[in-house]
Amino acid sequence: MPHIVFNKAELINTPSSKDGVDFKFIAKSYNFTSHQRNTEYKIAVKNENKDFLLTLKDKDDDQMIKIDKITRVAPITVVKDALNAYTDSIKPTIVFSNTHSIHQKAPPQKEFLKDINYFVDEFQTDKEIQIEVGFGSGRHLLHQAKNNPNIQFIGLEIHTPSIEQALKQMKMQDITNVLIVNYDARLFMEFIDSNKVGRIFVHFPVPWDKKPHRRIYSNEFINEALRVLKVEGTLELRTDSRKYFDYCTELLTNLPTGKITIDINKDLEISSKYEDRWKKQGKNIYDVVLLSHTEDKALVIEKDFTFDFEINYEEKISKLPTKSIVEKDFFVHIEDLFTILNEENSGLIQITMGNFDRPVSKYIIIRNGKLDYYQGSPLPTSSNIKAHKKLKEILN
Ligand SMILES: C[S@@+](CC[C@H](N)C(=O)[O-])C[C@H]1O[C@@H](n2cnc3c(N)ncnc32)[C@H](O)[C@@H]1O
Repeated sequence: MPHIVFNKAELINTPSSKDGVDFKFIAKSYNFTSHQRNTEYKIAVKNENKDFLLTLKDKDDDQMIKIDKITRVAPITVVKDALNAYTDSIKPTIVFSNTHSIHQKAPPQKEFLKDINYFVDEFQTDKEIQIEVGFGSGRHLLHQAKNNPNIQFIGLEIHTPSIEQALKQMKMQDITNVLIVNYDARLFMEFIDSNKVGRIFVHFPVPWDKKPHRRIYSNEFINEALRVLKVEGTLELRTDSRKYFDYCTELLTNLPTGKITIDINKDLEISSKYEDRWKKQGKNIYDVVLLSHTEDKALVIEKDFTFDFEINYEEKISKLPTKSIVEKDFFVHIEDLFTILNEENSGLIQITMGNFDRPVSKYIIIRNGKLDYYQGSPLPTSSNIKAHKKLKEILN
């Protein structure tokens, strides 16, 4: 992690500029929780058109300036240049630095690897969509893609080496109708339009016998699957785990809509790596297919993350809850508070919010009583929207 340690020195003046880096303001930690701690500063900078924070704090008898993890930007040289500009500006005696590196070229763009924001803001297709959850080796996903060139496939996976492998294979086999996303499949579908998906494959998901809350199948997942599926579209589970099969079958039989079909040891055109292993061991393989019957309402993604009121931060600061606020499907936790030096009614609130499985960390910036998310709004997931509404209640 890039950082510089130096003998204690005066803070940089703000606003100021050095070597093309703007130092906009400094925020000082406020003793929010009961445990005393050393003073910490957040220094707001802008470099190469990117806003982010640096952290300045004591380190033994010296001071250390480093990246603020929540607001880190890429490439890392943008942050390193800002750290160097800070010490070049105040000229302290430097004890340690690992910020001088050769500028590296940005890694090549991966055309078919998409960020989740792409699905929120840009993704559109006239083609039928098919989704594979946890594609692993990618054998089944790429086989399907090759044989169905008119379908737009989306492959979801959280294991980076599997993603790299699939992208490599796609290039070698010249497959262009697959988009790969590194995102939790349990949360992905809330950004997909209703009635667009022909098939959702969930082949050999991790059964999570000891941690059932981590399973892909849940009532929420099934409901989202039914919403995105076209009429006659299918959600297809294939598993070697009898327990998982029983668990899913029970969830699926209790639905008000949809029809299920069950098979044992059905042969598919292509067998995955896991399947080969289980077959060799003589295990049974179970299929449960849910067929969608209904046309669902169009998806409306709520994206309002504004704060439509102003606050008196100095007054509010002592009244904010130090404990997490936990509701059924979201939470909000105020982690830390900072006040901006030499500015009235201004500060930073560090928060963690949203879904328990995919929490997001952000800062809310307050300037002259007006609130906004620093570096832009959180991803508009339903849990982030609910958490934002709760934050508004807390802050208003
Ligand atoms: C047992 S492997 C099966 C892989 C492949 N479907 C096959 O049949 O060979 C399960 C895969 O699901 C992925 N996975 C687990 N949880 C996931 C989640 N929440 N979202 C997306 N992928 C997930 C894992 O990384 C792993 O590659």
